Amino acid sequence: DASDIEKGTYPHFMLKEIDEQPFVIRNIIQKYQNDDGTVRLDENIREAMKSSDRIYIIAAGTSYHAGLVGKQLIEKIAGRPVEVHIASEFLYNMPLLSENPLFIFISQSGETADLRGVLVEVKEKGYKTLTVTNVPGSTLSREADFTLHTHAGPEIAVASTKAYTAQMAVLTILAVDTANSKGTKLDFDPIQELGIVASAMETLCDQKEKLEQIARDYLSTTRNCFFIGRAADYFVCLEGALKLKEISYIQAEGFAGGELKHGTIALIEDGTPVIAIATQEHVNLSIRGNVKEVAARGANPCIVSMEGLEHDGDAFVIPKVHEYLTSLVTVIPLQLISYYAALHRDCDVDKPRNLAKSVTVE
Ligand code: G6P
Repeated sequence: DASDIEKGTYPHFMLKEIDEQPFVIRNIIQKYQNDDGTVRLDENIREAMKSSDRIYIIAAGTSYHAGLVGKQLIEKIAGRPVEVHIASEFLYNMPLLSENPLFIFISQSGETADLRGVLVEVKEKGYKTLTVTNVPGSTLSREADFTLHTHAGPEIAVASTKAYTAQMAVLTILAVDTANSKGTKLDFDPIQELGIVASAMETLCDQKEKLEQIARDYLSTTRNCFFIGRAADYFVCLEGALKLKEISYIQAEGFAGGELKHGTIALIEDGTPVIAIATQEHVNLSIRGNVKEVAARGANPCIVSMEGLEHDGDAFVIPKVHEYLTSLVTVIPLQLISYYAALHRDCDVDKPRNLAKSVTVE
């Protein structure tokens, strides 16, 4: 059938979409780069970013996780305060808004009803809205003032992979453009760093055998799995856990390393898999401490470290990328581990039970 043609030689769309990520990042670079290597963005979006005093990111699921990283990118690179909210909760717990808010809706499909509910409400109040989406003609794109296209190409697998990394790449471009328009001098070349990210992704996509083995060793029979990380790695833990839940049905949670002692550590038993993400130099000692704590209680830790950082025992090491952009790279092994875990457990990888690709009801 038609879907088989689109899948090409791949057994699943998810695997194909994971592998496409380096190309997607390079495509984004091309779409948003001027001839002289600087970043290019719609002037209206630039103006909206410039004139807003606070940004409110609204999203759901994987896109919410991209928003958490996006907040850090915009605050660190562009010096603009950002809040990130789960779309379905926003209207219940509406924060006190700033004077000139800009609402950014992050949505792969551009159709998620929870986001649309917020969009309608804030538009009515006259606030500016921007949709970051993979589907430019979508509802959220048509109804917002501005659209930023993530250029990832159609994503078919229910579990989102390339749309997530594309969202973070485009949010990087947005942050850089805002910094440029304010005259902020950056101490790194964002386009070059995104190029390094694409190469690192390629290196990781070439290590499928190793990652399949990790999935086999840690996740073939387990009932649950924890992801721990600190700082930027914490956000990737949330996404890693969501991927694993979605397609392998293993009960998985992402935790901030420092929160372990406040409850979660009670769940550690002999052989509990704990995937520890340790790519941030400034928290490396603390997260290594957490790994020791869980190991001492019988856990089976699997460490994901970064080139140049110290780790204890075996680790899966990701290539070095700019510290702001680690999430785009660290997520690749987590996506692949989830994929193989689902495969080993005979799950329907592309169409997990009870889930829909886009949720157009509240
Ligand atoms: C659904 C999908 C998720 C996705 C979420 C948000 O629940 O199964 O993979 O992250 O919706 O979708 P969106 O299209 O708004 O990014």
